[in-house]
Amino acid sequence: MTTQESSSVIVNKVEKSRISEVDFDNLTFGNIFSDHMFECDYKDGKWQEPTVKPYGLLTISPGAKVFHYGQAVFEGMKAYKDDAGDVFLFRPEKNFERINKSSKRLAIPEFPKDYFFDALHKLLQLDKDWVQPGLGNSLYLRPFAMATQVGVSASPANEYKFMILMSPVQAYYTKDVKVVIAQEYSRSADGGVGAAKAAGNYGAQFYPTNLAKEQGYDQIIWTDSNEHKYLEEAGTMNVFFRINDTLITAPTSDRILDGVTRDSVLALAKRDGITVDVRKLTVDELVAAAKDGSLKEIFGSGTAAVISPVCSFNYNNVDYALTKPEDSYSTKFKKELMDIQYNKSEDPFGWRVKIK
Ligand code: COI
Repeated sequence: MTTQESSSVIVNKVEKSRISEVDFDNLTFGNIFSDHMFECDYKDGKWQEPTVKPYGLLTISPGAKVFHYGQAVFEGMKAYKDDAGDVFLFRPEKNFERINKSSKRLAIPEFPKDYFFDALHKLLQLDKDWVQPGLGNSLYLRPFAMATQVGVSASPANEYKFMILMSPVQAYYTKDVKVVIAQEYSRSADGGVGAAKAAGNYGAQFYPTNLAKEQGYDQIIWTDSNEHKYLEEAGTMNVFFRINDTLITAPTSDRILDGVTRDSVLALAKRDGITVDVRKLTVDELVAAAKDGSLKEIFGSGTAAVISPVCSFNYNNVDYALTKPEDSYSTKFKKELMDIQYNKSEDPFGWRVKIK
Protein backbone atom coordinates (compact mmCIF):
# COMPACT_ATOMS: atom_id res chain seq x y z
CA MET A 1 0.00 0.00 0.00
CA THR A 2 1.41 3.42 -0.92
CA THR A 3 0.47 6.58 0.97
CA GLN A 4 1.74 10.16 0.81
CA GLU A 5 -0.08 11.50 3.94
CA SER A 6 0.89 14.95 5.17
CA SER A 7 4.61 14.91 4.52
CA SER A 8 6.61 14.56 1.35
CA VAL A 9 7.95 11.10 2.18
CA ILE A 10 6.05 8.40 0.28
CA VAL A 11 5.37 5.26 2.31
CA ASN A 12 5.16 1.83 0.79
CA LYS A 13 4.51 -0.74 3.53
CA VAL A 14 5.55 -4.39 3.71
CA GLU A 15 2.77 -6.92 3.27
CA LYS A 16 4.06 -9.12 6.06
CA SER A 17 6.51 -8.23 8.81
CA ARG A 18 9.62 -10.41 9.35
CA ILE A 19 9.77 -9.54 13.05
CA SER A 20 8.58 -12.95 14.29
CA GLU A 21 11.69 -14.54 12.69
CA VAL A 22 14.09 -12.48 14.82
CA ASP A 23 15.76 -13.80 17.98
CA PHE A 24 16.13 -10.48 19.81
CA ASP A 25 18.07 -12.11 22.66
CA ASN A 26 20.90 -13.28 20.42
CA LEU A 27 21.71 -10.48 18.03
CA THR A 28 25.02 -9.96 16.29
CA PHE A 29 25.59 -6.22 15.90
CA GLY A 30 24.07 -4.92 12.70
CA ASN A 31 23.36 -8.18 10.85
CA ILE A 32 19.57 -8.00 10.74
CA PHE A 33 17.52 -5.17 9.29
CA SER A 34 13.98 -4.11 10.11
CA ASP A 35 11.02 -4.29 7.73
CA HIS A 36 11.43 -0.88 6.13
CA MET A 37 14.18 1.27 4.70
CA PHE A 38 14.39 4.77 3.26
CA GLU A 39 15.66 5.56 -0.22
CA CYS A 40 16.05 8.81 -2.12
CA ASP A 41 17.95 9.33 -5.37
CA TYR A 42 19.77 12.42 -6.53
CA LYS A 43 19.78 13.21 -10.24
CA ASP A 44 19.35 16.17 -12.58
CA GLY A 45 20.77 18.37 -9.84
CA LYS A 46 18.18 17.56 -7.16
CA TRP A 47 17.01 14.99 -4.65
CA GLN A 48 14.07 13.08 -6.10
CA GLU A 49 11.06 11.41 -4.45
CA PRO A 50 11.90 10.37 -0.85
CA THR A 51 10.44 6.91 -0.20
CA VAL A 52 10.06 4.55 2.73
CA LYS A 53 9.75 1.03 1.33
CA PRO A 54 10.20 -2.63 2.31
CA TYR A 55 13.83 -3.50 3.12
CA GLY A 56 15.29 -5.28 0.10
CA LEU A 57 18.07 -5.62 -2.42
CA LEU A 58 19.31 -2.83 -4.66
CA THR A 59 20.20 -3.02 -8.31
CA ILE A 60 23.26 -0.85 -8.90
CA SER A 61 25.58 -0.91 -11.91
CA PRO A 62 29.04 -2.33 -11.20
CA GLY A 63 30.24 0.82 -12.95
CA ALA A 64 28.80 3.05 -10.18
CA LYS A 65 31.46 5.40 -8.85
CA VAL A 66 31.02 4.30 -5.25
CA PHE A 67 32.64 0.96 -6.14
CA HIS A 68 35.65 2.60 -7.75
CA TYR A 69 36.35 5.71 -5.71
CA GLY A 70 34.59 5.06 -2.43
CA GLN A 71 32.52 8.23 -2.61
CA ALA A 72 30.33 7.31 0.35
CA VAL A 73 29.50 8.64 3.82
CA PHE A 74 27.39 7.31 6.67
CA GLU A 75 26.01 8.01 10.14
CA GLY A 76 25.24 5.98 13.22
CA MET A 77 22.28 6.80 15.44
CA LYS A 78 20.00 4.86 17.79
CA ALA A 79 16.33 4.74 18.73
CA TYR A 80 15.41 3.72 22.29
CA LYS A 81 12.16 2.55 23.89
CA ASP A 82 11.09 3.60 27.38
CA ASP A 83 9.01 1.59 29.86
CA ALA A 84 5.80 3.14 28.55
CA GLY A 85 6.59 2.01 24.99
CA ASP A 86 7.47 5.45 23.64
CA VAL A 87 10.33 5.64 21.15
CA PHE A 88 13.06 8.31 21.26
CA LEU A 89 15.98 9.43 19.18
CA PHE A 90 19.07 10.94 20.80
CA ARG A 91 20.33 14.28 19.43
CA PRO A 92 19.40 13.48 15.79
CA GLU A 93 20.17 17.07 14.73
CA LYS A 94 23.83 16.31 15.37
CA ASN A 95 23.79 13.35 13.00
CA PHE A 96 22.00 15.36 10.37
CA GLU A 97 24.55 18.16 10.59
CA ARG A 98 27.42 15.70 10.55
CA ILE A 99 26.31 13.68 7.54
CA ASN A 100 26.04 16.86 5.52
CA LYS A 101 29.46 17.95 6.76
CA SER A 102 30.86 14.56 5.74
CA SER A 103 29.06 14.79 2.38
CA LYS A 104 30.54 18.20 1.72
CA ARG A 105 34.05 16.84 2.33
CA LEU A 106 33.36 13.97 -0.11
CA ALA A 107 31.79 16.26 -2.75
CA ILE A 108 28.35 14.66 -2.23
CA PRO A 109 25.33 17.00 -2.39
CA GLU A 110 23.84 17.86 0.99
CA PHE A 111 20.59 16.14 1.94
CA PRO A 112 17.44 18.17 2.79
CA LYS A 113 16.62 18.39 6.48
CA ASP A 114 12.86 17.87 6.10
CA TYR A 115 13.38 14.64 4.13
CA PHE A 116 15.83 13.37 6.75
CA PHE A 117 13.56 13.99 9.74
CA ASP A 118 10.40 12.89 7.95
CA ALA A 119 12.14 9.69 6.96
CA LEU A 120 13.29 9.00 10.54
CA HIS A 121 9.83 9.57 11.99
CA LYS A 122 8.04 7.51 9.32
CA LEU A 123 10.50 4.62 9.59
CA LEU A 124 10.25 4.53 13.36
CA GLN A 125 6.47 4.82 13.39
CA LEU A 126 6.26 1.83 11.07
CA ASP A 127 8.97 -0.28 12.70
CA LYS A 128 8.47 0.72 16.35
CA ASP A 129 8.11 -2.92 17.39
CA TRP A 130 11.68 -3.48 16.22
CA VAL A 131 12.82 -1.13 19.01
CA GLN A 132 12.95 -3.61 21.85
CA PRO A 133 12.38 -2.41 25.43
CA GLY A 134 15.03 -2.85 28.10
CA LEU A 135 18.32 -1.12 28.85
CA GLY A 136 20.94 -2.06 26.27
CA ASN A 137 18.43 -2.83 23.52
CA SER A 138 18.10 -0.30 20.72
CA LEU A 139 17.48 0.09 17.03
CA TYR A 140 20.67 1.21 15.30
CA LEU A 141 19.97 3.57 12.41
CA ARG A 142 22.37 3.72 9.53
CA PRO A 143 21.86 6.69 7.19
CA PHE A 144 24.29 6.64 4.27
CA ALA A 145 24.89 8.26 0.91
CA MET A 146 26.79 6.89 -2.06
CA ALA A 147 27.70 7.79 -5.62
CA THR A 148 25.58 5.79 -8.08
CA GLN A 149 26.50 7.48 -11.36
CA VAL A 150 28.00 4.99 -13.79
CA GLY A 151 31.51 5.86 -14.92
CA VAL A 152 35.08 5.33 -13.92
CA SER A 153 36.39 8.79 -14.60
CA ALA A 154 37.88 10.00 -11.32
CA SER A 155 35.51 12.86 -10.60
CA PRO A 156 32.49 13.40 -8.35
CA ALA A 157 29.31 11.66 -9.46
CA ASN A 158 26.21 13.51 -10.58
CA GLU A 159 23.90 10.76 -9.24
CA TYR A 160 23.62 9.53 -5.64
CA LYS A 161 21.47 7.42 -3.38
CA PHE A 162 20.67 8.41 0.23
CA MET A 163 19.35 5.58 2.36
CA ILE A 164 18.49 4.75 5.97
CA LEU A 165 18.53 1.20 7.28
CA MET A 166 17.57 0.13 10.79
CA SER A 167 19.03 -2.80 12.71
CA PRO A 168 18.03 -4.09 16.17
CA VAL A 169 21.17 -4.27 18.33
CA GLN A 170 22.53 -4.90 21.78
CA ALA A 171 26.07 -4.17 22.99
CA TYR A 172 28.78 -3.51 20.38
CA TYR A 173 31.55 -4.62 22.73
CA THR A 174 30.40 -7.38 25.03
CA LYS A 175 33.37 -6.99 27.38
CA ASP A 176 35.93 -4.36 28.39
CA VAL A 177 38.31 -3.70 25.51
CA LYS A 178 42.05 -4.27 25.19
CA VAL A 179 43.71 -1.69 23.00
CA VAL A 180 47.08 -1.17 21.39
CA ILE A 181 48.52 2.28 20.69
CA ALA A 182 49.34 2.88 17.02
CA GLN A 183 53.04 3.21 16.24
CA GLU A 184 53.10 2.27 12.56
CA TYR A 185 49.82 2.77 10.72
CA SER A 186 47.66 5.90 10.75
CA ARG A 187 43.93 6.47 10.54
CA SER A 188 43.95 10.04 9.26
CA ALA A 189 46.17 12.96 8.43
CA ASP A 190 46.07 16.75 8.58
CA GLY A 191 43.78 18.03 5.85
CA GLY A 192 42.41 14.52 5.26
CA VAL A 193 38.99 13.00 5.86
CA GLY A 194 39.41 11.83 9.47
CA ALA A 195 36.68 14.13 10.75
CA ALA A 196 34.21 12.87 8.15
CA LYS A 197 32.27 9.64 8.51
CA ALA A 198 33.64 8.55 5.16
CA ALA A 199 33.19 4.83 4.49
CA GLY A 200 36.86 4.55 3.49
CA ASN A 201 38.06 5.74 6.91
CA TYR A 202 36.65 2.58 8.39
CA GLY A 203 37.71 0.17 5.63
CA ALA A 204 41.27 1.48 5.87
CA GLN A 205 41.45 0.47 9.54
CA PHE A 206 40.53 -3.17 8.94
CA TYR A 207 44.01 -4.39 8.01
CA PRO A 208 45.94 -2.83 10.95
CA THR A 209 43.06 -3.74 13.29
CA ASN A 210 43.28 -7.36 12.11
CA LEU A 211 47.01 -7.33 12.91
CA ALA A 212 46.17 -6.01 16.39
CA LYS A 213 43.50 -8.70 16.80
CA GLU A 214 46.01 -11.41 15.92
CA GLN A 215 48.00 -10.14 18.91
CA GLY A 216 44.93 -10.35 21.16
CA TYR A 217 43.78 -6.70 21.07
CA ASP A 218 40.27 -5.50 20.23
CA GLN A 219 41.03 -2.03 18.95
CA ILE A 220 43.77 0.40 18.07
CA ILE A 221 44.06 3.81 19.68
CA TRP A 222 45.22 5.91 16.78
CA THR A 223 47.92 8.52 17.21
CA ASP A 224 48.78 11.53 15.05
CA SER A 225 50.22 10.52 11.70
CA ASN A 226 53.17 12.92 11.92
CA GLU A 227 54.93 11.64 15.05
CA HIS A 228 52.70 8.95 16.63
CA LYS A 229 53.04 11.12 19.71
CA TYR A 230 49.50 12.27 20.53
CA LEU A 231 46.53 10.04 21.36
CA GLU A 232 43.60 10.64 19.01
CA GLU A 233 40.64 8.25 18.71
CA ALA A 234 39.88 4.55 18.43
CA GLY A 235 38.14 4.40 15.08
CA THR A 236 34.82 3.11 16.35
CA MET A 237 34.98 5.41 19.40
CA ASN A 238 36.43 8.65 20.74
CA VAL A 239 38.67 8.06 23.74
CA PHE A 240 38.72 9.54 27.24
CA PHE A 241 41.51 9.28 29.81
CA ARG A 242 41.13 9.88 33.53
CA ILE A 243 44.38 10.98 35.14
CA ASN A 244 43.86 11.50 38.86
CA ASP A 245 40.34 12.93 38.71
CA THR A 246 40.71 14.97 35.53
CA LEU A 247 38.95 13.79 32.40
CA ILE A 248 41.09 14.30 29.32
CA THR A 249 40.14 13.89 25.67
CA ALA A 250 41.68 15.07 22.42
CA PRO A 251 40.26 18.22 20.85
CA THR A 252 38.36 17.62 17.62
CA SER A 253 40.30 18.44 14.49
CA ASP A 254 40.24 17.44 10.85
CA ARG A 255 41.76 14.14 11.99
CA ILE A 256 39.20 13.27 14.69
CA LEU A 257 35.49 12.52 14.48
CA ASP A 258 33.32 15.01 16.34
CA GLY A 259 31.43 12.31 18.26
CA VAL A 260 27.90 12.91 19.53
CA THR A 261 28.54 10.67 22.53
CA ARG A 262 31.89 12.43 23.11
CA ASP A 263 30.12 15.78 23.19
CA SER A 264 27.46 14.38 25.52
CA VAL A 265 30.06 12.97 27.95
CA LEU A 266 31.78 16.35 28.05
CA ALA A 267 28.45 18.05 28.85
CA LEU A 268 27.65 15.50 31.59
CA ALA A 269 31.13 15.84 33.10
CA LYS A 270 30.86 19.63 33.23
CA ARG A 271 27.41 19.39 34.80
CA ASP A 272 28.72 16.90 37.37
CA GLY A 273 31.56 19.24 38.36
CA ILE A 274 34.29 16.97 36.99
CA THR A 275 37.42 18.75 35.79
CA VAL A 276 37.59 18.37 32.03
CA ASP A 277 40.72 19.00 30.00
CA VAL A 278 40.19 18.92 26.25
CA ARG A 279 43.77 18.83 25.08
CA LYS A 280 46.34 16.81 23.24
CA LEU A 281 47.61 14.04 25.49
CA THR A 282 50.93 12.45 24.64
CA VAL A 283 51.59 8.73 24.74
CA ASP A 284 54.54 9.49 27.03
CA GLU A 285 52.23 11.21 29.54
CA LEU A 286 49.87 8.26 29.43
CA VAL A 287 52.63 5.73 30.02
CA ALA A 288 54.07 7.85 32.86
CA ALA A 289 50.60 8.08 34.45
CA ALA A 290 50.13 4.31 34.13
CA LYS A 291 53.50 3.79 35.82
CA ASP A 292 52.97 6.21 38.71
CA GLY A 293 49.37 5.07 39.32
CA SER A 294 47.67 8.36 38.42
CA LEU A 295 46.01 6.82 35.33
CA LYS A 296 42.69 5.66 36.71
CA GLU A 297 40.61 4.92 33.62
CA ILE A 298 40.45 4.88 29.85
CA PHE A 299 37.14 4.52 28.06
CA GLY A 300 35.74 4.89 24.57
CA SER A 301 32.53 6.68 23.61
CA GLY A 302 30.41 6.21 20.51
CA THR A 303 26.87 5.60 19.34
CA ALA A 304 27.45 1.91 18.71
CA ALA A 305 29.89 1.42 21.59
CA VAL A 306 28.01 3.71 24.07
CA ILE A 307 30.68 3.91 26.82
CA SER A 308 33.21 1.09 26.61
CA PRO A 309 35.80 0.74 29.36
CA VAL A 310 39.36 -0.15 28.35
CA CYS A 311 40.92 -2.81 30.57
CA SER A 312 44.47 -2.58 29.20
CA PHE A 313 46.61 -0.78 26.68
CA ASN A 314 49.76 -1.85 24.94
CA TYR A 315 52.61 0.42 23.96
CA ASN A 316 56.08 -0.62 22.77
CA ASN A 317 55.11 -4.26 23.41
CA VAL A 318 54.33 -3.60 27.08
CA ASP A 319 50.81 -4.18 28.41
CA TYR A 320 49.50 -1.78 31.03
CA ALA A 321 46.49 -3.18 32.91
CA LEU A 322 43.79 -0.97 34.35
CA THR A 323 41.55 -1.82 37.29
CA LYS A 324 38.23 -0.06 37.27
CA PRO A 325 38.02 2.23 40.34
CA GLU A 326 34.97 2.11 42.60
CA ASP A 327 33.99 5.63 41.61
CA SER A 328 34.40 4.80 37.93
CA TYR A 329 33.66 7.67 35.55
CA SER A 330 32.82 5.26 32.73
CA THR A 331 30.15 3.52 34.84
CA LYS A 332 28.76 6.88 35.93
CA PHE A 333 28.59 8.41 32.45
CA LYS A 334 27.14 5.24 30.94
CA LYS A 335 24.32 5.28 33.49
CA GLU A 336 23.65 8.99 33.16
CA LEU A 337 23.65 8.78 29.38
CA MET A 338 21.43 5.72 29.18
CA ASP A 339 19.01 7.13 31.75
CA ILE A 340 18.50 10.09 29.43
CA GLN A 341 18.35 7.95 26.28
CA TYR A 342 15.79 5.51 27.75
CA ASN A 343 13.70 8.27 29.35
CA LYS A 344 14.55 7.15 32.87
CA SER A 345 15.69 10.58 34.03
CA GLU A 346 15.14 14.26 33.37
CA ASP A 347 16.59 15.53 30.11
CA PRO A 348 18.08 18.90 31.16
CA PHE A 349 19.95 19.25 27.88
CA GLY A 350 16.92 18.62 25.63
CA TRP A 351 18.62 15.67 23.91
CA ARG A 352 15.64 13.31 23.55
CA VAL A 353 13.37 13.52 20.51
CA LYS A 354 10.11 11.61 20.86
CA ILE A 355 8.66 9.79 17.86
CA LYS A 356 5.02 10.79 17.58
C1 COI B 1 28.84 4.37 15.45
O1 COI B 1 29.11 4.40 16.63
O2 COI B 1 27.72 4.58 15.02
C2 COI B 1 29.89 4.11 14.47
O3 COI B 1 29.89 4.72 13.44
C3 COI B 1 30.81 3.01 14.70
C4 COI B 1 30.53 1.98 13.67
C5 COI B 1 31.67 1.90 12.73
C6 COI B 1 30.08 0.70 14.22
